[in-house]
Amino acid sequence: MHADTTVGSLVATHPSRSKVFERFGIDYCCGGHDSLANACKKASVSLEQLIHELEAQPLQADDRDWTKASVKELIEHILITHHDWLKENLARIDALCEKVARVHGDSDKSLQEVLRVFRALRDDMEPHLQKEEVILFPSALHLEEHGEIALACHGPVPTLEGPVGAMEHEHRVVGGYLEDLKDLSNGFVPPPQACNTWKACWDALRELDGNTRAHIHLENEVLHPLIRRLEQQAAQA
Ligand SMILES: [Fe+2]
Ligand SMILES: [Fe+2]
Repeated sequence: MHADTTVGSLVATHPSRSKVFERFGIDYCCGGHDSLANACKKASVSLEQLIHELEAQPLQADDRDWTKASVKELIEHILITHHDWLKENLARIDALCEKVARVHGDSDKSLQEVLRVFRALRDDMEPHLQKEEVILFPSALHLEEHGEIALACHGPVPTLEGPVGAMEHEHRVVGGYLEDLKDLSNGFVPPPQACNTWKACWDALRELDGNTRAHIHLENEVLHPLIRRLEQQAAQA
């Protein structure tokens, strides 16, 4: 581990390191290409201290090196851990944000903004999951299995860079919403006057933040680079 190592590659091989980056406010999903040195500069953290904490972070039993996984294994994991989680939880979080904004929004205008930003995220996320499940994931599985570059429901194409790049663009937009929600909620720390619904809402948003950062990280830093490598191999064959 050194100054040039990228943040994303450190989380790809040991996902529990994401906790250290979160503690220092370092973005490991959309900012995963940053070197440790750059990330430290942005977060005003000393490189020595960050490396020390990363090395001291205990590895967990379920800490899997995703850089050694196949497309099939990655996609199965992403669908169960992230897509299913979102489908099960987005409506619940929406209801919590709506209730907190309705009951307390007159005295705290930022709660209306939390609802607006959450709904913008949800409106983008639901079709995004659909596009991955219907277009990108089946095309990536086909590429791994048959060594052929083809778009699902379309047929052979020169590259999958179109859908991969489009998903990465959408990840950046969602990453921006996550940052806004974190700022608006004071890092998901409820104020002293918060009722139980308000606290449950902030807990749910914190869980959404952690789950979605891990989700975007796996796709941007592990799945998409693997698709690009398989594409190069297929083109050379
Ligand atoms: Fe996804
Ligand atoms: Fe995605």
